[in-house]
Amino acid sequence: MRLVVLSFFIWGSLARSPSVTSVKSTRANTGTFWHLSDLHLDFYYNSAAADPSEVCPSSYGRKVENAGPYGNYRCDAPWKLINSTVYAMKEINSNPDFILWTGDDTLHTNDQDKYLSPQLVVEAIKNITDLLNEVFPDTAILSSLGNHDYHPKSQLPIGPSWLLNETADLWAPWFTDQSALDTFRENGFYRMSVTAHSDLNIISLNTPLLYTSNKAFNASAVEDPGGQFKWLEESLQNIRDLKQTAYLIGHVPPGYYELVDYKHWYYLQYNEKYINVIKKYSDVISGQFFAHQHSDTFRLFYSDSGAPLSVMWLAPGVTPWMTTLQGVNNGSNNPGIRLFEFDTVTFTPTDYEVYYLDLYKANSDNMATWKLEYRATEDYKISDISPTSMDKFMKAVASADPGCESCESNIMLQKLSLYNSVSYNTAHCDKTCQTNQVCAITEVSESGHDKCLRGAADKVKQTIAMMVVIFLCFFISS
Ligand SMILES: *[C@@H]1O[C@H](CO)[C@@H](O)[C@H](O)[C@H]1NC(C)=O
Ligand SMILES: *[C@@H]1O[C@H](CO)[C@@H](O)[C@H](O)[C@H]1NC(C)=O
Ligand SMILES: *[C@@H]1O[C@H](CO)[C@@H](O)[C@H](O)[C@H]1NC(C)=O
Ligand SMILES: *[C@@H]1O[C@H](CO)[C@@H](O)[C@H](O)[C@H]1NC(C)=O
Ligand SMILES: *[C@@H]1O[C@H](CO)[C@@H](O)[C@H](O)[C@H]1NC(C)=O
Ligand SMILES: [Zn+2]
Ligand SMILES: [Zn+2]
Repeated sequence: MRLVVLSFFIWGSLARSPSVTSVKSTRANTGTFWHLSDLHLDFYYNSAAADPSEVCPSSYGRKVENAGPYGNYRCDAPWKLINSTVYAMKEINSNPDFILWTGDDTLHTNDQDKYLSPQLVVEAIKNITDLLNEVFPDTAILSSLGNHDYHPKSQLPIGPSWLLNETADLWAPWFTDQSALDTFRENGFYRMSVTAHSDLNIISLNTPLLYTSNKAFNASAVEDPGGQFKWLEESLQNIRDLKQTAYLIGHVPPGYYELVDYKHWYYLQYNEKYINVIKKYSDVISGQFFAHQHSDTFRLFYSDSGAPLSVMWLAPGVTPWMTTLQGVNNGSNNPGIRLFEFDTVTFTPTDYEVYYLDLYKANSDNMATWKLEYRATEDYKISDISPTSMDKFMKAVASADPGCESCESNIMLQKLSLYNSVSYNTAHCDKTCQTNQVCAITEVSESGHDKCLRGAADKVKQTIAMMVVIFLCFFISS
């Protein structure tokens, strides 16, 4: 009888979503986990507002056209979109080994008390926590704080605060280890293993402390905020001694933004510290999972001799919000979520899929149909997602000629660029776009990134100089 009910249930859920392909891999020793990030709940969203500049405070007064039930590309996410996202995760894969949730839960606004307050920040986090518990009651959830999980935004202080106190209470049931909960309440970071995989240590970092927008303390005078780097190195050393594995999770990533020249997220001294930790402990770090940019991308870390050591995966955002950062043109994205596959013996991530909602279509259909956007190994034609494979892939992307329509490497570059906005921005990726993508992905350090951008600029100058010389030679000889 139970079997009949179960198979009916499975048939029922498949029948409801014919467009969703199941990820259930046939490979042995394969586990899965979701990475969910940047929900940015806009609880003021009102698609029926008479004045188009008053649909959502997150538009910063910009006119919002075609506001629909699931949100708008100029606004943060209404509850209906967030609810749809979490239920879509369940429909696509209801039994992941765990879920990573890397922060930013409130809307973008100026720091006006009118829209946000400490109470409202906590309430937004609570509502999302409740939703995850409702939909995934038996799944391990590992979370990190974002810069928008504080009021005023990005100003999380070092050490205890109302925010850490309240979120520690909300998330306490997810902690299987009292000392991890104590560390979190004290400092906003923690290390915890997933019950079913006791040799896999999830290290959740407090990255708002490293963020250039955080003015709650004088970063020039604080070498290691909250003693986090010291704690991180000690933890990684201990994990190495135990012959175990670590995943690093967090919100704000090190390195540079691919859509704005020279825009980095960490104070540069912390950026270097972070890179040095990765270089020193890459043997025990099997993956890094961050977000914050709302774009789907990744970062590569290399040894001093240029060997690929580690990949940091940056998850797309659920919010479609168009960034107001200067220099970005049309910087919205479709809502996206990432599903990883990993080897349950070595804990190596082996593949991932991105699922997304075509927001424009969802609004015009008044129905949210989440679909597979792409699968890394298939769409990027790589055998796995190891540092070596991603490095090889990026060498091809870097060598691509953006003008060659039928060239394999350019097809990869164009896919990388399209997926960056979760298939929102369909613009052609030209030489400048290519340089920015390549330099952001492969050069996380200040000096490496500057050299990469300048090298590309020098190449343009060299080409112009060569053309002038050829022209002059031709002119003189004729
Ligand atoms: C959330 O999504 C579920 C599944 O689609 C639906 O049954 C429920 O009504 C939704 N709730 C809200 C508040 O939108
Ligand atoms: C949280 O959910 C409650 C119950 O649905 C709702 O009344 C409240 O407005 C929500 N709070 C926020 C900040 O979204
Ligand atoms: C945290 O909560 C405890 C117990 O409610 C309280 O005594 C303490 O003052 C709070 N700390 C902060 C920084 O809010
Ligand atoms: C921050 O610390 C640096 C280094 O100690 C010091 O030179 C600077 O004056 C401080 N800035 C402020 C605003 O206190
Ligand atoms: C922004 O991108 C969308 C989707 O590609 C496109 O439809 C729209 O015309 C673009 N808007 C501007 C102002 O470029
Ligand atoms: Zn965000
Ligand atoms: Zn953020």
